[in-house]
Amino acid sequence: MTPPLARVDAHGKVTGTVHYGADRVPPGLAHAALAVATIGRGRILRIDTATARAVPGVRLVLTHLDPGELTAAGYLMAGGYALQSLQPLLDDHVAYRGQPIALVVADTLLAAAEAAALVRAEYEAEPVSAELDSGGADTLEQAAAIPLPMFADVNVGDADGVFADCPVQVDAVFDCPPQHPVPMELIGCVAEWDGDTLTVHEGTQNAAAVRHGLAAQLGIDAAQVRVISPYVGGAFGNKNSLQPHTSLAAVAARRLGRPVKLVLPRAQMFHGASFRPASRHRIRIGATRGGQLRAAIHEADQQTSRHDLFPASYTAMTSRLYGIPNFRGRQRLVRTDVQTPGFMRAPYEHPAAFAFECAIDEVAYATGQDPVDLRLSNDTAADPVTGQPFSSRHLAECLRRGADRFGWAKRAAEPGSMTAADGTLIGWGVAAGAYPASAAPAIARLRADARGKLTIHVGGHEMGQGIRTAITQTITGDLGVPAGSITVDVGDTRVVPQHVTAGSWGTATALPAVHAALLELRRQLTLPETGPADLRAALSTAGRDDIEVEAATRAPGQPAEIIDYLRGGGFAPAGPEYPGFTAFSFVAHFIEVRVEPTTRRIRVSRVVSIADCGRVASPVTAASQIRGAVVWGIGATLHERSEVDPRYGGFLNADLAEYVVPVNADVPDIDVGFIGIPDPQLNALGVKGLGEVAMVGVAPAIVNAVFHATGRRHRSLPIRLEDNL
Ligand code: MOS
Repeated sequence: MTPPLARVDAHGKVTGTVHYGADRVPPGLAHAALAVATIGRGRILRIDTATARAVPGVRLVLTHLDPGELTAAGYLMAGGYALQSLQPLLDDHVAYRGQPIALVVADTLLAAAEAAALVRAEYEAEPVSAELDSGGADTLEQAAAIPLPMFADVNVGDADGVFADCPVQVDAVFDCPPQHPVPMELIGCVAEWDGDTLTVHEGTQNAAAVRHGLAAQLGIDAAQVRVISPYVGGAFGNKNSLQPHTSLAAVAARRLGRPVKLVLPRAQMFHGASFRPASRHRIRIGATRGGQLRAAIHEADQQTSRHDLFPASYTAMTSRLYGIPNFRGRQRLVRTDVQTPGFMRAPYEHPAAFAFECAIDEVAYATGQDPVDLRLSNDTAADPVTGQPFSSRHLAECLRRGADRFGWAKRAAEPGSMTAADGTLIGWGVAAGAYPASAAPAIARLRADARGKLTIHVGGHEMGQGIRTAITQTITGDLGVPAGSITVDVGDTRVVPQHVTAGSWGTATALPAVHAALLELRRQLTLPETGPADLRAALSTAGRDDIEVEAATRAPGQPAEIIDYLRGGGFAPAGPEYPGFTAFSFVAHFIEVRVEPTTRRIRVSRVVSIADCGRVASPVTAASQIRGAVVWGIGATLHERSEVDPRYGGFLNADLAEYVVPVNADVPDIDVGFIGIPDPQLNALGVKGLGEVAMVGVAPAIVNAVFHATGRRHRSLPIRLEDNL
């Protein structure tokens, strides 16, 4: 094992030499800005762009009245490519506050922004349903509305019957607010045409969707669209599809014959991009007096938009967290007047774990069990839903190791029983988490030359999680070549397909392809399958200046044709159910909170997090993933909420001053550990996903710690000062 690499792109990032999508400034660049709807729902009666057009430097104003040269790209979760089915500027319909109604392009950003603010529209407004409980919000049974097996209800055993007979019953409702991911890099693009070929520079997790979606929208061949996204400044699900404004920039660039840059201002990010929808969870858990979990029922309601069904998948995780023999999961979708919500880090698993793991804590207190012991005694080796084994499951070891490192044995069980000398209430909480270990097909092309340089092109996106470092670590560890000789090219559709990197499948998707390419290189150069390799000598022996090899890999059980589907821009992740096994990553969090006795301010003061993500491909960036996820968990539990005005719709706190996220003072030292046992069934390198599982369970660990400190059960997030009085 080579020593852990520091983040390979760190120096370039802090010195500003790496370029993000919209950093590009090509000659002749024009700047675009959007004017957005100021009603929550209705119709545009009249739109006045004359004042905007009169601003010096304005070159173009597009509204729905322009002759159409665009179609919608279709919703990502319904076989299309885009954030939502609704493509703005195609008609006079307003579906949500903040929907773009005009695109202004000018010689300078200042002129574009000034002119966009001068676009005036008259509307016919309709009543808005903005929240789960709003009148006019329609509730649908998901199993009927989206008849696909992965979104069906879960029915194992007789959950209702067994629950009714259980001597210990917990029945509680938990609420999660809408939240926004606020990545540092704003969503934006630079669109430029060279003849009939469109090049888009955009920070995205899904260059394939941008490419193939734009081709569909513009009615051109995908071969005429290139998407370049070498670095993404945070994504978290927010950049996983074709954004509605990208095609507008492309149309403007074509009309003007100039490159066009469009970057959403922070406030527009709250309405022009996806968000974590509000959700509500009723959890019922039935147990024996000795703490054996016999039955659970998880019913979830999740917000979606009026025009799309963003599917819910909360019960896929809660039904697998323990060996509960009777489980019923049912999910409903509530149509509201918003842009279509979407995936935000641990999209289902964070809210689901909050609800379920808080309820488990209630079972522990109701049965007089230690919360760690209760979890250990309900562990399972088999997937309770399918009956097949887990490919690997080291949750018990995460719990044991975490308890040991945290010093859990010193915990006094009684709420309010641990106080500091100054009266500060101390609470210790624990929670577990799981996340599907998915994977997708990928292609890697590896080139080596006689000067010792290696270049790898592979499907994947670098959004800060460290995929470049993990790939470099894999190559240097395999061949024994220096990291500095390796160039990793990701997020670029010009060489190999760029399937969406999301759902924590990036590493388990890219690394197997890299590994397969390394094996192919060794085969062609007649080198042994493992061990340090002298590529220069091998090339010289072969009488060559360079060599290029390509390899394609797919997830377990995927057919060979999936590679063609990948090349065509298809969406092709697999898991967590594979032929013969079910694969999840696991985590346990141990958290200490300190509650100030008069203000009741909650501070997270200590965290121990132990993860089972198979083999750890890149120790430095993996540890950083966990720390970042814990910070997210702290934010989700104590700070973040997108505020909705139910009368008018939209989100009110649409900036980083009022959308409160944790700052350094809110984050303690986070002690991170890994089980590190490879999962060879999932892929040759034994890696499982990490980025999202690491956030799962942070919220309930904090909330359970607050209960332990104060005796107060919180069932609605975030917990703010006024909630804890
Ligand atoms: Mo992640 S929310 O699947 O990008």
